[in-house]
Amino acid sequence: MTIETATETRSQRLKAATRDSHGALDKRIMAGDIFASRGQFARFVRVQYRFHRDIDALYDSPGLDALLPDLEGRRRLPQISRDLVDLEQALPTAAAAPLQPDLPLPVALGWLYVAEGSNLGGTILYKMAAKLGLDAGFGARHLAAHPDGAARHWREFTAALDSVVLSAGQEQQVIDAADAAFRSVHGHVEEEFA
Ligand code: HEM
Repeated sequence: MTIETATETRSQRLKAATRDSHGALDKRIMAGDIFASRGQFARFVRVQYRFHRDIDALYDSPGLDALLPDLEGRRRLPQISRDLVDLEQALPTAAAAPLQPDLPLPVALGWLYVAEGSNLGGTILYKMAAKLGLDAGFGARHLAAHPDGAARHWREFTAALDSVVLSAGQEQQVIDAADAAFRSVHGHVEEEFA
């Protein structure tokens, strides 16, 4: 049993609340043997493309930009698209409508938490992608750490995320949205690795 304390931050609560869905996703992706070949790795990049296409409009939101540091710099769809071109992939076609920029703030924060957090695991995947001859200049651009360092860039994001004032109901909306984001990515994995 975990005991919640008043000092626990929003990002810590999000991590705890999504631990199982993150673990299941990690396992599913690694079971897809994504470093067996460039073709297998491309399936993972296609998953990333679908996820980041879904959330891309959020990076244009002036409201989010006012709250979060370097919002535009955190957008990764352009790098993912270039990775797919490097890997000789056609861009996946949209199965469903992407998120709209006027999404309620707590929902947008939940989705962005998942996107930003995925950069942490991404640093591990980046190192493994070197085995396939992929790097920041070719095929694995979107996994390359931010020049300031992935951990620092993440802490700047979570500090801002943690300081947004929300009601208890909105707090739950953030968690539900992060959970929905993980489930959505899982759905993309099931399709791309079918
Ligand atoms: C697109 C798929 C993925 C998404 C959306 C995702 C999402 C996340 C999120 C939200 C976090 C932040 C957790 C926190 O609050 O600290 C995170 C951290 C992490 N992820 Fe993932 N992840 C993905 C794939 C992977 C994969 C495939 C691996 C490993 C093989 C991985 C390994 C990690 C690790 C090691 C961390 C750091 C955990 C820590 O600092 O304690 N992730 N990921």
